[in-house]
Amino acid sequence: MTKGPWESESPDTGAACVRGGGAIATAAPSREARLAKPIVPTYMNRMSETTRYYSTNRGVPPVPLAEALLQGQAGDRGLFMPDRFPSFSPSELRPLADKTYAEVAYAILRPYTQGMLENRVLRELCEDAYDYAVPIEHVTGRQHLLRLDQGPTASFKDFAARMMARWMGVLIRERGGDLVILTATSGDTGSAVAHAYAGVPNVRVVVLFPPAEVSDRQRKQMTTIGGNVTTIAVDGKFDDCQAMVKRAFADPALKGIHLTSANSINIGRLLPQSVYYVYAYVNLADVTVGEPLTICVPSGNFGDMMGAVIGWRMGLPIARVVVATNANDEFPVFLRTGRYEKIVPSRVCISNAMNVGHPSNLARLVDAYGGWMDETGTLREPPDLDRMRRDLYAVSISDDETRATIKATYEQHGALLEPHGAVGWAGLQRYLGETPEAREQLAISVETAHPAKFPEEIEATTGVTPAVPPSLAGLEQKPESYEHLSTAYEPFRDWLLARFAK
Ligand SMILES: Cc1ncc(COP(=O)(O)O)c(C=O)c1O
Repeated sequence: MTKGPWESESPDTGAACVRGGGAIATAAPSREARLAKPIVPTYMNRMSETTRYYSTNRGVPPVPLAEALLQGQAGDRGLFMPDRFPSFSPSELRPLADKTYAEVAYAILRPYTQGMLENRVLRELCEDAYDYAVPIEHVTGRQHLLRLDQGPTASFKDFAARMMARWMGVLIRERGGDLVILTATSGDTGSAVAHAYAGVPNVRVVVLFPPAEVSDRQRKQMTTIGGNVTTIAVDGKFDDCQAMVKRAFADPALKGIHLTSANSINIGRLLPQSVYYVYAYVNLADVTVGEPLTICVPSGNFGDMMGAVIGWRMGLPIARVVVATNANDEFPVFLRTGRYEKIVPSRVCISNAMNVGHPSNLARLVDAYGGWMDETGTLREPPDLDRMRRDLYAVSISDDETRATIKATYEQHGALLEPHGAVGWAGLQRYLGETPEAREQLAISVETAHPAKFPEEIEATTGVTPAVPPSLAGLEQKPESYEHLSTAYEPFRDWLLARFAK
């Protein structure tokens, strides 16, 4: 079977091993200490023990899933990762081909929620969250589009936000107290999170967004909800919003408010994002023979691609993950040169939700390959670059290529893409162009949002006006309400204290 991240051949036994996360450090741990974490043989990798979630900074003790969800970011500003993964053999994956999406989600997520939720409850939550279609569209040859745009806010973020909101709703009900979900959005997270948590008792949602970088429809999707959802237009870029949110989490002055994150720094966003890769695989591949699959993910903060990496770890025979970015090419450059430099300010591209100059989940990816990136984005220990290069192919796609791809894919194959999905599709074409041996392999590229969210670009390139799905209909008539702040942190802190401190 294809070996993915976290796995290595043990020199002593030859057994497949997992890079576990048990070591706790108070100061910066040495490379030896970091790599000497307990190695868990695969036969134990069946969630027989409760999974714990360690911080990529190793500065706090590992915690159970409920704590990781409610904390969002670890106390040492690292990101939580599971210390073990369930592994699904071909004979366990095969029966999933006959299941609904909700049933696949239940099968994949159940090992993670042991000890937190009864199986019966998880099953109900999955049925409730995943009541929409997940189309897999054949485009050409062995290449497919996985359309993740049929949820209530028409982006892939619905998949994770809806499950995480349900998990947190149960936890808050059981534990009592109030929770404030703080989220920065580059376009789609805000509306997915706001919709998912709207009306959840004892949970308030605050969404920060950069008004110049989101489309009208994206803005209206979050500013028309009201109730327990407040939106704030920050006079800056997505990276500014993200920095304000991160600072608030680490701010002792806000200790009295139970803040947590619904951005993809929360592990609760990543686990549900592994499910759709499994779903696509079992529906397309010859599972019995472990047919390899190439997955291409249009990427900004790398939460979606980490879902694929987690799927890989759970036993999906992934041949390669193609990471397609827009002109924010810090990761493609890093993979090529080994040097990492954030792009500040991030470059403005038509795939606006991916205008990210420093992907917040890169720390997790680096951790998966034996390295350490701290919360400032500094590479404290390099990852195994050779291995990363074998597993991943990273490519940067310009706006011109994005537009040309929207046009060509529509004209040649009748498949309508929006700018993010087009970055992915162009990335897949680049990879297949450079990798002849991959051309006959099964491949999926992820379409992360509905074309109707970006009608201007699509009309300009294809002349077609995308049909508006029911989930986006009627937005124009709804009244909007949102607040304004600058990028300065202190006024934001004061606003939070005035609103939520008891
Ligand atoms: C439509 C769309 N595509 C792709 C992405 C990138 O996903 P990620 O940040 O998980 O890499 C986003 C994230 O905001 C998005 O909204």
